[in-house]
Amino acid sequence: MYVLKGSRLYSTGGGCCEALVYRIHGDPSKVVQLENMDLPSIGAKDVLVKMLAAPINPADINMIQGTHAILPDFPAVGGNEGVAEVVELGSQVESLKVGDWIIPKDAGQGTWRTAAVMAEEDVISLPNDIPLLCAATLGVNPCTAFRMLADFRDLKPGDTVIQNASNSGVGQAVIQIAAARGIKTINVVRDRPEFTQLSDRLKAMGASHVIKEETLRRPENSRTCPRPKLALNGVGGKSATELLSQLQFGGCMVTYGGMAKQPVTVPVGAFIFKNVELRGIFVTQWKKDHSDDGAFRGMLDELCSLVRQGKLTAPGYTEVSLQDYRTALNSAMQPFISSKQVLSFDPFWSK
Ligand SMILES: NC(=O)c1ccc[n+]([C@@H]2O[C@H](COP(=O)([O-])OP(=O)(O)OC[C@H]3O[C@@H](n4cnc5c(N)ncnc54)[C@H](OP(=O)(O)O)[C@@H]3O)[C@@H](O)[C@H]2O)c1
Repeated sequence: MYVLKGSRLYSTGGGCCEALVYRIHGDPSKVVQLENMDLPSIGAKDVLVKMLAAPINPADINMIQGTHAILPDFPAVGGNEGVAEVVELGSQVESLKVGDWIIPKDAGQGTWRTAAVMAEEDVISLPNDIPLLCAATLGVNPCTAFRMLADFRDLKPGDTVIQNASNSGVGQAVIQIAAARGIKTINVVRDRPEFTQLSDRLKAMGASHVIKEETLRRPENSRTCPRPKLALNGVGGKSATELLSQLQFGGCMVTYGGMAKQPVTVPVGAFIFKNVELRGIFVTQWKKDHSDDGAFRGMLDELCSLVRQGKLTAPGYTEVSLQDYRTALNSAMQPFISSKQVLSFDPFWSK
């Protein structure tokens, strides 16, 4: 058992946690259950952590539905992202200490749980002077945004990037990181009754332009800044084709998500007359490729620095207790929510 004294978790031998578990693929609100789960004993190179906060991202939903590229073995604990506090160390752990905040390095570790035993090599520390919700949502979407702005075109202040799904977690990070570097962004969103409020919110974050999908082709929208060098596509389908049509000669479109569940269709002329380049990114793979060369740590340091300067904030979120997971899972699948559901484990730890 583990008992909580103050904010510390103490081992009394053996241990268990509460976790959101699924044993078959299907509708997340039906197949996920809150269960008590035994924790393995802490190996020499393991740490015991208590989870502090963990978001519900589209990839988590797709994994439960069975449509993601990475599918964990059953029984699986949901969640790929989140921040946790180290509460106990294995005897040979060197890089972490009790009280450190950590995030998972890789997907598939199951973050929707009150506590976990994780291998030291599978986690990376984060400074605990940034807001908790920023820490909980830093490891996936801002990292994806950061890589897309860094790895595909040499972007200089004054250059333009166009993106769709601009109010997504990734999209908001793109807006903020780009603005911090003087890069203009054209931000495409789906129309909605409260478009003006959304537009104002994204502009307050640094968006140069916010445009409805339907009006992207209007000439008055396309000439207010230089044609984009880079397009970031999280949607697919018609929306991606529209982004492509806005690129400058030799521009590049990076696809990172397919929220519309439609293929990317490219007009032949885009290749012939505009020489566009189509690329993709899977940040999980990037992290695997760079976990030991310092680049992942360097990126997190840069992102944390932006957070401290107030230039990068967490996406709009709704904090939900673990017990309310069904409501949270349902909300995470609704359109036009503009708010990420984040599981908070505070009520559990303050029981
Ligand atoms: N490749 C990678 O390494 C990587 C990394 C991180 C995320 N992703 C992917 O990026 C995407 C966004 O993730 P996130 O966590 O940032 O999402 P999020 O914060 O949950 O936001 C979802 C976004 O998708 C939009 N959307 C949903 N259905 C849509 C549709 N049919 N057409 C157009 N837009 C639609 C929503 O717009 P509304 O407000 O209009 O509903 C919202 O902007 C997901 O596909 C995720 O899997 C990929």
